[in-house]
Amino acid sequence: MVLQSLSPKDPSSYSKPEEVAVTNIALNLTVDFDRKVLHGHVELDVKINNKNATEVILDAKHLNISKILDNETKKDLQYHVSENIEEFGSKLSIELPNRKVDNFTLSIFYETGSSASGIQWLTPNQTAGKVHPYLFSQFQAIHARSVIPCQDTPAVKTKYTATICTPSELTVLMSAIPKFTEVVGHQKYSHFIQDVPIPSYLIAIAVGALNSRKIGPRSHVWAEKEIIEECAYEFADTERQLITAEEICGPYVWGIYDLLVLPPSFAYGGMENPCLTFVTPTLLAGDRSLANVVAHEIAHSWTGNLITNRNFEHFWLNEGFTVFVERKIKGRLSSPLHQDFDAYGRLNELNETVKLFGEDNPLTRLVHDLKGVHPDDAFSVVPYEKGQTFLRHLEEVVGGPDQFEPFLRKYFDTFKFKSIDSDDFKSFFEEHFADNAAIKSVDWNAWLYCPGMPPKIPKYNISLAENCTKIMNQFCCWDEKVTCPIENTHVKNLTADEIIYFLQQILEQKPLTANKLEHLDKLFQFSKVRNAEIKFRWLRIGLKAHWKNSVEPTLKWINEVGRMKYVRPLYRDLYAWEDVRQKAIENFQINKKYMMHVVSYTVSKDLHLTA
Ligand code: BES
Ligand code: ZN
Repeated sequence: MVLQSLSPKDPSSYSKPEEVAVTNIALNLTVDFDRKVLHGHVELDVKINNKNATEVILDAKHLNISKILDNETKKDLQYHVSENIEEFGSKLSIELPNRKVDNFTLSIFYETGSSASGIQWLTPNQTAGKVHPYLFSQFQAIHARSVIPCQDTPAVKTKYTATICTPSELTVLMSAIPKFTEVVGHQKYSHFIQDVPIPSYLIAIAVGALNSRKIGPRSHVWAEKEIIEECAYEFADTERQLITAEEICGPYVWGIYDLLVLPPSFAYGGMENPCLTFVTPTLLAGDRSLANVVAHEIAHSWTGNLITNRNFEHFWLNEGFTVFVERKIKGRLSSPLHQDFDAYGRLNELNETVKLFGEDNPLTRLVHDLKGVHPDDAFSVVPYEKGQTFLRHLEEVVGGPDQFEPFLRKYFDTFKFKSIDSDDFKSFFEEHFADNAAIKSVDWNAWLYCPGMPPKIPKYNISLAENCTKIMNQFCCWDEKVTCPIENTHVKNLTADEIIYFLQQILEQKPLTANKLEHLDKLFQFSKVRNAEIKFRWLRIGLKAHWKNSVEPTLKWINEVGRMKYVRPLYRDLYAWEDVRQKAIENFQINKKYMMHVVSYTVSKDLHLTA
């Protein structure tokens, strides 16, 4: 691999914005569902920061470029596409115009490659309605370059506009404010504007037969009509969550906050695309019990979208902060007890990941070294949970939320619209709390750069957890010769969060016997459960016990649902069970063509099919 040409400032990008930076993006693209490509042109405003610079460098991945023009003179600009480095794409170098300029605009005419990693194309058959095709994008972390030639680093933030041409019966949504649409014959032109500067990974598009319901003064939920009512019910608390987030973080700057509920193959729980959060339909539990994912994506409106990690080595600044704010929203809307239960409960998952990676694995550090490492390979729960634990620790050290929350608001106000790294945060924290002697006890080096579990666990209120642990212990220690000590009366009032915690704990014990599994199923009706978090853990407990009844339901589910958080551990569990390993591999080979790139890429490694 020739990775030297990637930038030292962002090891995941070729661009050098300190020399020449893109300052605005105007997209003009046509969606061709037959050929599964986007084609058209993009206009980039460019600012020359170093007078000696001779070229502007962009990222591009499998793009077919036909010409590049200087907008003012309409003359061709020479360009060079370097060799493609697998998963990172190519360096696109474009000569600067030979007239004296500080700024200029160029147009790149191109089409996307046939299997752009940032786009998922669905045939009508893969949609709920079965009549129209569908497409959606997922650019985080570094897939924007497979759809748009751009400086694909979060250090660069730009506004964008877009005109998208599609068949007239389809709806286009983007991470921007919709302006207007025009229909010309069978074609529709949809216009958008995003007036807040954002990094490339937040550009997003979805096209399909979409309907909407108003769910709040600034919010609609979008989905195929078959599930739209369910969606409107599930996400009815969105405005309350937004208001609470504003109380914590300050004004919401993005105008609208819409939700798009995607088809089941979407790889993530949610994606914080500005103005339009994308979510998985696995959140449709029927009882609003998984709405914390929406609180999480709302929190990104400040942490991530206003203040952005400078590169993905500092991803915890996006995700750790977001989980921290997400839990503060929960603390206010539910109770501090539930906030702590959540934080404490997820430490188990962090622990599982640290064990899986190995305690000395550099990927268990908060700050990563991504030289030669693709961000999709580094992705895990570590930046989320170790990150939020660190912030909770800092909050404890400075004296609690009364001290920390004003600091947090000042942090948002100081760094909004900017991209920062962990040192920027450290300096800002130390300056703000300079008079607080307690901060000397913070071991920044251990937290940011040492692998393994967090160096300190904050004091959480664990009473809800203790109740679940008690039931779990009674059940796991149950001597099956006597009657089960756990009865329906003990469990019927448990909340979804409590059941999730209970199952998570069982998962960490010795495998259960078939008899105990059957008993659990009778008590909780897990085989029929709709809540995806519960279903996921129930299937894992069965697989761990080599319980035959779990295999078919697991295969059926992972062929339907593409959410990586579920699909990867379930494939790993199947792989670990020798009797079903081959079946799992065959299942993957057949179904990988329906998976999003990031899922097939990572599962293929988990199954040891690729290195
Ligand atoms: N931004 C992430 C999703 C993401 C991360 C996509 C990295 C691509 C690369 C999103 O905000 C997220 O964290 N989603 C979680 C939600 C959960 C933590 C509540 C998910 O997908 O499960
Ligand atoms: Zn997130």
